[in-house]
Amino acid sequence: MSIAPPADVFADPTPMILPSILAADFGRLAADTADAVAAAKTRVIHLDIMDGHLVPNISLGIPVVQALRPHLPELFFDVHLMIDEPVRYAPAFVKAGGQNLTFQVEAPEVKNDLAGAVKAIKALGCHVGITMKPGTPVDSVLSVIDLVDLVLVMSVEPGFGGQKFMVNQLEKCRVLRPLLKPTQKLEIDGGIGTDTIAQARAAGVDWFVVGSALFGAKDRVAAGRELLAAL
Ligand code: DX5
Ligand code: ZN
Repeated sequence: MSIAPPADVFADPTPMILPSILAADFGRLAADTADAVAAAKTRVIHLDIMDGHLVPNISLGIPVVQALRPHLPELFFDVHLMIDEPVRYAPAFVKAGGQNLTFQVEAPEVKNDLAGAVKAIKALGCHVGITMKPGTPVDSVLSVIDLVDLVLVMSVEPGFGGQKFMVNQLEKCRVLRPLLKPTQKLEIDGGIGTDTIAQARAAGVDWFVVGSALFGAKDRVAAGRELLAAL
């Protein structure tokens, strides 16, 4: 069951925090996610899907997205596919309620035909994003930059939350920002907290994935307020 996305989430120029549910309490996922969303005053959540192949971790999959969807009907689900076969599984993630699907350029299924992968996912009626690991050059996404709705810059090695921000990845943001149209989003993911979010904003980022700095905060409302104040 997919729910119509909030009509203007891509047309909204407001910088947004995207709580990364990988850092949530999986024992009470919907409630904990809703709590983090309220603290971050946001409309978009980030769902990390890991298959244990593309990255050395296995996180959550289609049933979890499907279970979460009806509990958070007003939110936009930004799905980060850290999996070898994003096109193969894209229909199932859209059916489960994913509204943007971002895939890794390193995925074996797509690396020789990124444009074909973008078009195949877009044909499902959802939004599509592309991303690259820190060690992959920014040139790797340029061939499809006009086709995607967003570009995600990984500022940690994908696979785990709670890692240190890789400041050298901001250079990719500075290269990408001028190449993107106003309705295309530049998103950053990994190690974003009150000490790093301002640098990312200054580098042109629109959407900020935050896991441990929000879900792991002692005072989540204060953490949300400080993160937003730094924007
Ligand atoms: C890492 C994930 C990130 C991560 C962010 O592979 O893609 O979304 O959960 O977590 P923090 O904000 O704790 O780095
Ligand atoms: Zn992610």
